[in-house]
Amino acid sequence: MNELNVVVDNARTSFQQAATPAELENAKALFLGKSGRITELMKGMVALPVEEKKSRGAAINLAKQAIEAALNDRRQALADAELQAQLQAEALDVTLPGRQRGQGGLHPVSLTLERIEAIFGSMGFDVAQGPEIETDWFNFTALNTPEDHPARSMHDTFYVEGGAANAPNLLRTHTSPMQIRYAVQHVKQHRAALGSGWTDGSLFSGSMPEIRVIAPGRTYRVDSDATHSPMFHQCEGLWVGENVSFKDLKFVFTDFCRTFFESDDLVLRFRPSFFPFTEPSAEIDIQFQSGPLTGRWLEVAGSGQVHPNVVRNMGLDPEKYMGFAFGMGPDRLAMLRYGVNDLRLFFDGDIRFLSQFV
Ligand code: PHE
Repeated sequence: MNELNVVVDNARTSFQQAATPAELENAKALFLGKSGRITELMKGMVALPVEEKKSRGAAINLAKQAIEAALNDRRQALADAELQAQLQAEALDVTLPGRQRGQGGLHPVSLTLERIEAIFGSMGFDVAQGPEIETDWFNFTALNTPEDHPARSMHDTFYVEGGAANAPNLLRTHTSPMQIRYAVQHVKQHRAALGSGWTDGSLFSGSMPEIRVIAPGRTYRVDSDATHSPMFHQCEGLWVGENVSFKDLKFVFTDFCRTFFESDDLVLRFRPSFFPFTEPSAEIDIQFQSGPLTGRWLEVAGSGQVHPNVVRNMGLDPEKYMGFAFGMGPDRLAMLRYGVNDLRLFFDGDIRFLSQFV
């Protein structure tokens, strides 16, 4: 192989070895640059006789053209490779299913509350919302709950800043304060409509439409395990009129449970209990006669006949007005209805769990 062929061959090899356009330009400089091999060879002709110069020059030119051709081939190859890599990286599989925005849905507890509201709504109950930060008066005192009741202790209740020293504000421990708030508003409105006002603080003993309301919402206690969460839900129920008794409570709540669980195969037990704001008081237990929960008594609500002191705090004369109240746990109802055994699952926010209810 003559000297020029060797140069061309070397050029091809080093172009081939260049892995990037930058490396290729460096390799090019070694052969075609100002002080590259071809320029060197040209300079070497200076001393040659004229005849030889001609043929030598032509041969060097041919070598130069061969090197340029090799350079262009390699440039093209690198550009192709780069394009291929880019196409690979940006590959678009048009056969893949489209990306959709996830379909939202209601939380199982919200679904349960909607269900409760619909059922009681069909029985003529209004739905009321109340504040989660309550005063000591509405949460305890107005509900006939004495100063030394354990529910008022720091262990049971989240107190918050901003209340008076002897009447602190707190995160409501139950929805029962809504009994007072709603009834007082109802009585005030009715008295205003009668034009009698309500400035003397007297108890109302005239006639007025019945109070029939449920009050669902968040409640708070210092409690946390598989069946207790520091934040949980309650739904209060209140029915006050001139002749509303425990038998109405039994009828209403039984009807509610059977509708809620879509089963007549269900019995209720009113187990004597104590709440300061009801007398007599009862825990309401239910028992399924069929299905996976058959036979166990399950507590679903506290209830009772509204205590006369509470009727007074509503602005009503207890000689004229009476009624019942209950407070149930929608979280518990949701657990029973959906077969969930750990309450905390509802509030962990795990989309894999929650999306099952959509
Ligand atoms: N507020 C009571 C509780 O949280 C439940 C209840 C409501 C009991 C209404 C009687 C009447 O346990």
